[in-house]
Amino acid sequence: MQHDRRTLERIRTQYLNGTAGNADYWQSADDLAAYDATFAQRIGWKWNAVLNDLDRLEWKPPAGAPLIDIGCGSGIASRTVLRHYGSASFASVHLHDRSPLAMRYAAESITAGFAVHVTQTAEYNTETLPVMPSDAVVVLSHILTELTAVQAESVVRSIANAAAVLWVEPGTQTASNRLVAVRTMLQPQFGIVAPCTQQCECPMNNPVNARHWCHAFAAPPAEAFTESGWSQFADDFGIDLSRLAYSHCIFDKRAEYHTATAEYRILGTPNVTSADAVACVCNGATVSEIIAAKKRAPSLYKALKKGNTDTPRALNLHGRNVVE
Ligand SMILES: C[S@@+](CC[C@H](N)C(=O)[O-])C[C@H]1O[C@@H](n2cnc3c(N)ncnc32)[C@H](O)[C@@H]1O
Repeated sequence: MQHDRRTLERIRTQYLNGTAGNADYWQSADDLAAYDATFAQRIGWKWNAVLNDLDRLEWKPPAGAPLIDIGCGSGIASRTVLRHYGSASFASVHLHDRSPLAMRYAAESITAGFAVHVTQTAEYNTETLPVMPSDAVVVLSHILTELTAVQAESVVRSIANAAAVLWVEPGTQTASNRLVAVRTMLQPQFGIVAPCTQQCECPMNNPVNARHWCHAFAAPPAEAFTESGWSQFADDFGIDLSRLAYSHCIFDKRAEYHTATAEYRILGTPNVTSADAVACVCNGATVSEIIAAKKRAPSLYKALKKGNTDTPRALNLHGRNVVE
């Protein structure tokens, strides 16, 4: 994996200083290719984690739905979803982005790999996005931090009519909190498939949880640690490739997918010592801190120590202590 450091630095600076939303930053197809080979791949790894979790929940997209990608960039979200479910699962792919260059790149990259009809929005305007078709599956990926509140509300109004929405964002507190705000706006129209284990109001809306945020970590593939291009990329940008934080919310109108279990999701990174692991957990209704002592909860302790935090678990709690 080779990367064009100057191009990526220019784009990343705008992501980091919060100015990426101000104007279209894609200057050429080369920009998109450089992004697609690096930052987008990491985003694809996050999508893989989310899609694997949806497999665990036995979630499937509605058969023959149009797949709509809003803020498609180089098209990584659509491609990852198409690879996971097969292009025959979708009737077509529709791309939206304020950048015509991005839509063209995404369309070409999708048609190069998948036998599916792809269309691009002729005149894109976030403030006047059309209402999405009622059979559509909409994907949104790493776009919220580039939208103003007004634009985000317009997107929410537009996607509220869809059949399902798959939304993945960075695992930062800011991005996660904005996604919770989206969840709150969309909950009257949809049930939640993931990450929530119940259909309650998100407990992150409660000010007592202000220091927590809903996020998880995806496992990168082996190539991230074996290919020299990736280690060069990590050095150049000071990125720890093993820490792939993301937040996500999966919405669906079909009642059979509205999750209702007594399980807890582990949020973020547990604090592990040689005696115990302290983790922040959410059961869909409340956020709390639990202690998995090596002696009383050996398998959870081991899992937390290894960083296996993706799957919700049933916990036998005595106060804050997990007892196995
Ligand atoms: C960080 S990139 C993410 C691209 C892709 N979804 C991914 O996950 O790799 C954000 C994308 O959102 C697009 N974007 C930013 N503001 C937008 C707006 N107001 N309307 C539509 N697209 C926008 C940008 O052009 C860019 O392609």
